[in-house]
Amino acid sequence: MFPNVLEVARRLIAERVTAGDRAIDATMGNGNDTLFLAQLVGREGTVTAYDIQPQAIERTKERLEREGVLERVRIFLASHEEMSKLSEPVGAIMFNLGYLPGGNKDITTQAESTLRAIEAGLSLLRPGGIMTIMIYWGHPAGQVEKDAVEQYCRQLNQSEYLVLKYQYLNQQNQAPFLLAVERRS
Ligand SMILES: C[S@@+](CC[C@H](N)C(=O)[O-])C[C@H]1O[C@@H](n2cnc3c(N)ncnc32)[C@H](O)[C@@H]1O
Repeated sequence: MFPNVLEVARRLIAERVTAGDRAIDATMGNGNDTLFLAQLVGREGTVTAYDIQPQAIERTKERLEREGVLERVRIFLASHEEMSKLSEPVGAIMFNLGYLPGGNKDITTQAESTLRAIEAGLSLLRPGGIMTIMIYWGHPAGQVEKDAVEQYCRQLNQSEYLVLKYQYLNQQNQAPFLLAVERRS
């Protein structure tokens, strides 16, 4: 079987991020990607993570504490656009768009703020760094967001960024897909 979109995102990141690196989880949710990134950057690295829902923060904190990696993660109850306030280069940024699994399905990422965050994030990527964007578009705001993000990524300057799309073409039900943007060296 082909690896699913999340597996591909993680493989691409794991090939580029090493111990001591900096990474960002733009959509913390239940903390699965935050934990993955925290383990990858190791004790010397840092992860900055954002979510707008207190529920997501609580779940992620518990998860990270249980796994003994909480101290290497900076957690913000804030929109991911706030990453425009960061200045240090990062090796990886993960976006996992849509709603919090097990949470309120009406609270989803939104095209405009997502685009602002992607733009801010791209400017933080170090050469060889990667941004992955998992697009879940089977909800009302998702279609608009999907179109906006795809359009934005398609026009990125190819001498600065490489953009990859990983998607099943024959799946029904608006299956999620992955965009990955690599900052060229
Ligand atoms: C699909 S979930 C993320 C799942 C997560 N990566 C995990 O491993 O569990 C999307 C998350 O994005 C959050 N979100 C929505 N708008 C946001 C924003 N403007 N900034 C940061 N997070 C946002 C939602 O609250 C939700 O928790």
